[in-house]
Amino acid sequence: MDGKDYAGRSAVVTGGASGLGEATAELLASKGVHVVIADLNADAGSALATKIGGTFVKCDVTDTDDVIATVDEALSHGPLQFAVNCAGIGSISRTVGRDGQYSSAFPLDYFKKVVEINLIGTFDMTRIAATAMSRNDPDDDGQRGAIVNTTSVAAFDGQIGQVAYSASKGGVVSLTLPLARDLSAVGVRVNTIAPGLIDTPIYGSGPESEAFKAKLGESVVFPKRLGHAAEYASLAWELLSNPYMNGEVIRVDGAIRMPPK
Ligand SMILES: NC(=O)c1ccc[n+]([C@@H]2O[C@H](COP(=O)([O-])OP(=O)(O)OC[C@H]3O[C@@H](n4cnc5c(N)ncnc54)[C@H](O)[C@@H]3O)[C@@H](O)[C@H]2O)c1
Repeated sequence: MDGKDYAGRSAVVTGGASGLGEATAELLASKGVHVVIADLNADAGSALATKIGGTFVKCDVTDTDDVIATVDEALSHGPLQFAVNCAGIGSISRTVGRDGQYSSAFPLDYFKKVVEINLIGTFDMTRIAATAMSRNDPDDDGQRGAIVNTTSVAAFDGQIGQVAYSASKGGVVSLTLPLARDLSAVGVRVNTIAPGLIDTPIYGSGPESEAFKAKLGESVVFPKRLGHAAEYASLAWELLSNPYMNGEVIRVDGAIRMPPK
């Protein structure tokens, strides 16, 4: 958007081995950025790194040492210009079990795990990446870098069984404005994307999941299909490169509003 040359700059994409992160890593690489793909999935991550001329780092976003090692790897390829947080997991469990026993209420360790990956992992990468960006030379606007985080429409329209996922993603929404305010001191912008139903490996593979996805697509207002990962990546690039976008949460969802179930 800003027409700048990002050759020699680096970026980190968490969850970059698959789905939304993969599409974003490919788009960033096409802009001349050296992309560090940070993911648990070493096979897919390494293959993508080879394809796009980037680097794979095995990174668990719940481990601060991994997060720092990822950012340091990016810095070894040039100043860190962008970070995109796509690492995340879904969750399905009702709050109260059918038998009325305390032991069948939502497993608390599961709730904590979802929040740890989706919310705390996102914040950890954001704080470490922004710290590295704060050392960059500023551009004419005083800008040193930009970050995109990933929430979900489930932050707003969480369905039955989605309490943990929705709470974790709601946290990512609520981080956005105070982060943008905090990071204005160092010239780093932060925006958040709330995808609707995007066709990625998160829905599994095979004939059953294809049928499930086709049915899901019917609930989208327009266009009547799941989104493509490239449509997320295109918005991520706009948010990363448009200097006036800051502190915003944007849905990319074909106008879907999720029903209770
Ligand atoms: N696909 C959708 O419809 C959709 C909708 C709304 C939000 N989202 C969100 O977008 C993000 C990406 O989803 P996707 O559809 O591309 O999923 P995906 O499963 O294709 O990719 C997620 C990636 O995150 C990685 N990951 C998981 N836990 C990790 C951890 N602890 N550390 C590092 N990497 C980890 C996985 O290995 C995987 O490669 C997630 O945060 C998801 O909640 C997706």
